Amino acid sequence: MMLEHPSAMGLWVRSELGGQSGMRYFRRIVVEEACLACHGAKDARPQFIKDGYPEDRAFDFEAGDLRGLYSVFVPD
Ligand code: HEC
Repeated sequence: MMLEHPSAMGLWVRSELGGQSGMRYFRRIVVEEACLACHGAKDARPQFIKDGYPEDRAFDFEAGDLRGLYSVFVPD
């Protein structure tokens, strides 16, 4: 849906949840330069991340990447 609106940071869509009508709001989670401090090159991650998250796969992000979506439902 956000892919159809590449320039939209956020989007309201009429929706339904468990039979209740309302509006759903989507917002992009975009990678910024600041994210790369912890999500950049594997070897460049801070020590506390290497120690605390041995299974970490959230590295090698690049600024501008679309990483996910926030979604909230607001009932009418
Ligand atoms: C200070 C370090 C730090 C910064 C800066 C940071 N993150 Fe994270 N991020 C983490 C840690 C630690 C986790 C893992 C949390 C957990 O698993 O409990 C995480 C997890 C994530 C995840 C989930 C990974 C997955 O697939 O499970 C995403 C997506 C994410 N971060 C995106 C971002 C974005 C986008 C930014 C910048 C807006 C950002 N992070 C900035 C430390 C950071």
